[in-house]
Amino acid sequence: MRLAGWEVTVAKTAAGAQAATGKTGVAAGLIDFDGFAPRDYAALKECLSQPAVGWVAVSAEGRTASRVERELIRNYCFDYITLPLQYEWISQVLGHARGMAELDYFDPAAEATCPGNHEMIGTCDAMQQLFGTIRKVANTNAGVFISGESGTGKELTARAIHERSPRRKAPFIAINCGAIPQHLLQSELFGYERGAFTGADQRKIGRIESANGGTLFLDEIGDMPLEAQASLLRFLQEGKIERLGSHESIPVDIRVISATHVDLEAAMLDGRFRADLFHRLCVLRVDEPPLRARGKDIEILAHHVLQKYKSESTRKIRGFTPSAIAAMCNHPWPGNVRELNNRVRRALVMAEGRLLTPHDLDLESPADKETMTLDLVREEAERSAIETALRRHDYRMGETAAALGISRVTLYRLMVAYGMRNVKDMTVDDTEDRLDGDPSV
Ligand SMILES: Nc1ncnc2c1ncn2[C@@H]1O[C@H](COP(=O)(O)OP(=O)(O)OP(=O)(O)O)[C@@H](O)[C@H]1O
Ligand SMILES: [Mg+2]
Repeated sequence: MRLAGWEVTVAKTAAGAQAATGKTGVAAGLIDFDGFAPRDYAALKECLSQPAVGWVAVSAEGRTASRVERELIRNYCFDYITLPLQYEWISQVLGHARGMAELDYFDPAAEATCPGNHEMIGTCDAMQQLFGTIRKVANTNAGVFISGESGTGKELTARAIHERSPRRKAPFIAINCGAIPQHLLQSELFGYERGAFTGADQRKIGRIESANGGTLFLDEIGDMPLEAQASLLRFLQEGKIERLGSHESIPVDIRVISATHVDLEAAMLDGRFRADLFHRLCVLRVDEPPLRARGKDIEILAHHVLQKYKSESTRKIRGFTPSAIAAMCNHPWPGNVRELNNRVRRALVMAEGRLLTPHDLDLESPADKETMTLDLVREEAERSAIETALRRHDYRMGETAAALGISRVTLYRLMVAYGMRNVKDMTVDDTEDRLDGDPSV
């Protein structure tokens, strides 16, 4: 292996393997379970789940893998090969495994974040414009009003503005005006003195006062009752508050950011929202683009969520099938980024294969639609050729692979990737590798 340019580290114990995989960058790993005992499995699992390492399991011909070993191979290994095998072959398979690990390890989201704010992702023109607006409004003290559909990232934007503003060291206080019972909103905002009303047994500092020096985020401002709107307007005009039950005026210096997903213009026309308050709050306006208008960002966000939560899955999920990407691009996303987060997290739990499918995401498969990209056509053709050949060869892996003109390892990989079946009862022994007829294949 060294002659082929590989830098080789050999580990004879599970602890040795842990030490070796802990410090490597992107690498390929070859694992032979022979010689390891069940007590090593936990440590081996830790090595195998390292995202930077693409693993290939190797086994001497005739050796039967235990149930746990088969589970580890199925969930964490890129390939499974039996010896004896030509050296060139091993090198080639390891090259593939390393390449896959590299793809897996690369996080496209890291390239697309709002500079200085690692949480917000967006490469499309609309998001780049939004990032520009955030940078500009952050440096002023004027009221910012954020409008956008549910789940588009209004709160994230408000936090980004605060974090980039000169107020970043002071508190960011958020209050959801829609979630607080109307009769409690005034006391939540302004606070109260002991004895101000029945049950007020001690002084309470309101959210406005708590945000002193920093930013107050008034979420769902459209739900604020008219009485609280009048008090808020007074505060914005005077810069002072009075706690309930007190006549003392306390100066408070805050920057107000507000947001809503309802149509405030319509609420103003109906008399449910004060126009004079709106003009105070909305000196600068920020519009969040809906997810369906963000093009390629849908895919980038999906990868970001996958990277973030894939450790919650027991399988080593590698990405999305082309049809899953197409399904995500076609979906209208009424719940925007929040909905995308939820679908990808659900898919991580539901997935049968190593690539997430439209079915895992609970989205309509674009294969039913009229227009198909070349990637989709290839995927569908590949899947259906494998299905037909498996049936024709009575689920004998060796014969099926030969008929398709691919190696058995490639066939295994494709079947696992497409979630066609569980590998747990597969073996690569020619005499034994007939799969039980599986109607889902
Ligand atoms: N550009 C983005 N990059 C990464 N994550 C995002 C982005 N936009 C939103 N999110 C994530 O989506 C979820 C919803 O975002 P947020 O709560 O800011 O939306 P919202 O517009 O305030 O929603 P709602 O109208 O329901 O209150 C959060 O988990 C947030 O982290
Ligand atoms: Mg919100």
